[in-house]
Amino acid sequence: MRALPMSVTSRIQHEGLRQRLMTAEAAAELIPSGANVGMSGFTGAGYPKAVPQALAARIGRLHAEGRGFRIGLWTGASTAPELDGALAQVDGVGLRMPFQSDPVGRARINAGEMEYTDIHLGQVAQYVWFGYFGKLDVAVVEVAGILPDGRLIPSTSVGNNKTWLDQADKIILEVNRRVPAAMEGMHDVYYGTALPPHRKPIPITAPDQRIGEAYLHCDLSKVVAVVETDQPDRNSAFAEPDAVSQAIAGHLLEFLQHEVARGRLSPELLPLQSGVGNTANAVLAGLNKGPFERLTAFTEVLQDGMLDMLASGKLASASATALSLSPAAQARFERDLDFYRQRIVLRPQEISNHPELIRRLGVIAMNAMIECDIYGNVNSTHVMGSSIMNGIGGSGDFARNAYLSIFMTPSVAKGGAISCIVPMVSHVDNTEHDVQVIVTEQGLADLRGLSPKARAALVIERCAHPDYRPLLRDYFERARRGAPGQHTPHLLGEAFAWHQRYLQQGRMLP
Ligand code: COA
Repeated sequence: MRALPMSVTSRIQHEGLRQRLMTAEAAAELIPSGANVGMSGFTGAGYPKAVPQALAARIGRLHAEGRGFRIGLWTGASTAPELDGALAQVDGVGLRMPFQSDPVGRARINAGEMEYTDIHLGQVAQYVWFGYFGKLDVAVVEVAGILPDGRLIPSTSVGNNKTWLDQADKIILEVNRRVPAAMEGMHDVYYGTALPPHRKPIPITAPDQRIGEAYLHCDLSKVVAVVETDQPDRNSAFAEPDAVSQAIAGHLLEFLQHEVARGRLSPELLPLQSGVGNTANAVLAGLNKGPFERLTAFTEVLQDGMLDMLASGKLASASATALSLSPAAQARFERDLDFYRQRIVLRPQEISNHPELIRRLGVIAMNAMIECDIYGNVNSTHVMGSSIMNGIGGSGDFARNAYLSIFMTPSVAKGGAISCIVPMVSHVDNTEHDVQVIVTEQGLADLRGLSPKARAALVIERCAHPDYRPLLRDYFERARRGAPGQHTPHLLGEAFAWHQRYLQQGRMLP
């Protein structure tokens, strides 16, 4: 073990763990081929920055010598080029779970070179506890610091870190000095989960309620390495909302106002969940200018839009498992950390995405999708039936249990060559039973309480792009005449003709 000078160890206040300081390269040597490795990281926040790159370099060298080396890679959700990208680049991952959005990893998965298990993010921890994925060999977890008694100050995401630290045989800690020290106290790590039949209700009855501890802990004898880093999270910038995302946001805000007017929502609405991405950010920007006050969030990721809403006072508090901020928002967050620490709670993803809590709190779930069909089935993950884009993320955790389950998309993709409203989705993630509202820039379809045929008529007329509306009408009318069953009429021989045409001719229109 190569000990580093003591002068760089101010964030490592535990004497014994300080003795385990070593370089990332030395730590990466402790990960054996074939190991299942649980790494921290969620939407580009709080992922280890040095050990994965050192491991990738080692794997690259071994592969060049003709020696095989791959790991099973588990995380909270997506990470960054330094982790997912580096390991995928050297073909170092056998099985990846539960979510990834890295382009190199995506290419490997879609080429059949890397296995991928895409799981509801709220369910990952319990599946690992159940033993569904086998043994977790190593945890590599970024933390903001180590206290004298060995408790760990979490970083910018909590994700599955508690489970990784509990379940792994060996632990490697990356202590990142770049994480603001003043984040200490923002986290709420709940240690009350159990396996069936010993589970108790999770006692959260308000989005900002704290039920756990501000720290992670682990069996210190399992810590085989401590590595110091000083690198920022990926922090990619958001585009300014364009006309399409602004139109989607406009329809959604009008709908929420309508719900208040009808008495189905109070003016404070209910806790918001919002996916990440430009459309989601446009909706949040709209809410920030809109009429609703004293809002709350019970969500998975806290992005720029929510930070702005906290700053303006529109949002009173937010619960999430991770931050995902642009560099500019990160700077604002760090500047006013005392303000944000009182309003943000970062929890394990098994709590931020827990069905019991989403149902109890009555969350308004707003997620983006790739396509939906006329009956309201939603594809969140696949392009043309067989290629993965990212993964289901938390959309299913929230959609199925939400008070209101809303899915959004531009009506067309790839410059109009693809309609995002199709006769039948080429892959289903969120079924018609879990989808209540569809929004595109064309309009909004409120599907609650409607039969499949009534839903189809509404989705076609309100949400489809005018170029595709006549084709959808034609398909639906012929299905109404020709399908053998008239509950959800389909013409099976042509339900995927649009997708096939795109694959063959580069456009869905004939
Ligand atoms: N067919 C093929 N490609 C499509 C498409 C369709 N129907 N609709 C969108 N796309 C492509 C876009 O062209 C774009 O491709 P590009 O990157 O090559 O330009 C890409 O998908 C992203 O689409 P975009 O319109 O920019 O939306 P986005 O960034 O908001 O992403 C999802 C949309 C659905 C991919 C993304 O939200 C996602 O991965 N969701 C699943 C996970 C989730 O819901 N997480 C939040 C839960 S908390």
